[in-house]
Amino acid sequence: MRDMTEQTPVTTATAKAVPTLPDAQTVTSVQHYTDKLFSFRVSRPASLRFRSGEFVMIGLMGDPDPKTGKQKPLLRAYSIASPSWDEELEFYSIKVQDGPLTSKLQHIQPGDQIILRPKPVGTLVHDALLPGKRLYFFATGTGFAPFASLLREPETYENYDEVIITHTCRDVAELTYGHNLIEDLKQDEIMEEVFGEGFAKKIRYYPTTTREESPKMGRITTLIENGELFTDLGIPPLDPATDRAMVCGSLAFNLDIKALLEKAGLREGANSEPGEFVIEKAFVG
Ligand SMILES: Cc1cc2nc3c(=O)[nH]c(=O)nc-3n(C[C@H](O)[C@H](O)[C@H](O)COP(=O)(O)OP(=O)(O)OC[C@H]3O[C@@H](n4cnc5c(N)ncnc54)[C@H](O)[C@@H]3O)c2cc1C
Ligand SMILES: NC(=O)c1ccc[n+]([C@@H]2O[C@H](COP(=O)([O-])OP(=O)(O)OC[C@H]3O[C@@H](n4cnc5c(N)ncnc54)[C@H](OP(=O)(O)O)[C@@H]3O)[C@@H](O)[C@H]2O)c1
Repeated sequence: MRDMTEQTPVTTATAKAVPTLPDAQTVTSVQHYTDKLFSFRVSRPASLRFRSGEFVMIGLMGDPDPKTGKQKPLLRAYSIASPSWDEELEFYSIKVQDGPLTSKLQHIQPGDQIILRPKPVGTLVHDALLPGKRLYFFATGTGFAPFASLLREPETYENYDEVIITHTCRDVAELTYGHNLIEDLKQDEIMEEVFGEGFAKKIRYYPTTTREESPKMGRITTLIENGELFTDLGIPPLDPATDRAMVCGSLAFNLDIKALLEKAGLREGANSEPGEFVIEKAFVG
């Protein structure tokens, strides 16, 4: 298995560009993990308020229209990966080689500008869940992004005794962003002051891979069905009396997890009517 603690160099901004795009924000740092994954941070509009776990529309100007020469913004939904209190905004992104946005976005550098529409929305928020004892975050691929925000949100530790984050990817390197974030978080003394002493012990990280060999292999759906998740962590099976869940992955993943949660007796919640679990797509596939 690869050493996931190895740090990838971070490119950091030296100068601030003058905004020229509509809703422009300036890129402050970029970090690449694999040929398919990277993260970046941008300046935060002073007026932007959001709840940890929400998403916004971000993008770049598209290519000029061949006839008119006019450019239109090319926007996509992105979970904000940073917590609501952070002075910058962080995003964790796929690189789709022929993707209209990410074929370009993957080349951004500190000092460049992106467009950010400041209208945050989403269902992966604490307000949509009823109180409980144990909170599960179930993620695949870039579905980790909203949980990168929520894992750095004080409410997560105030509301729950235990926070279980499962992240399933095809390969080990695809776990790097989440792995490093959780390691850094657990060692951060300032976070301990903010989240309370011993908060790190509440985090139970459960990474799995499905194609490349790693210490824990398998789809999380299989590991729930055969009980390995619960045996490995030494906790009881899913129970609507104590357990709450947030889910973010592909449509197929979301549907499969939803079926398992409902089989265990948990009911889906929403902003308007809190429940025992909430779901959001990590991409439209
Ligand atoms: C609510 C919501 C939140 C999202 N949050 C994020 C996020 O935080 N980070 C992120 O990288 N993307 C996120 N996405 C996906 C994002 O909106 C874009 O689809 C992605 O940036 C690719 O854009 P594109 O124009 O390059 O390709 P698109 O034309 O949008 O997508 C092309 C194809 O690439 C695949 N694809 C797209 N996005 C992903 C992905 N994230 N993981 C795996 N395969 C993908 C799909 O098969 C899709 O059909 C989110 C989508 C939704 C609906
Ligand atoms: N990531 C890559 O290396 C790669 C390479 C080529 C193409 N792509 C394309 O990029 C897109 C996204 O790829 P991705 O790897 O980010 O996302 P993905 O295909 O959704 O897979 C992410 C992880 O989720 C698991 N998974 C998928 N569906 C599931 C379900 N219904 N229940 C439980 N677990 C499930 C996968 O396991 P399984 O491995 O068992 O499916 C994998 O470990 C896809 O359209 C894919 O074709 C990705």
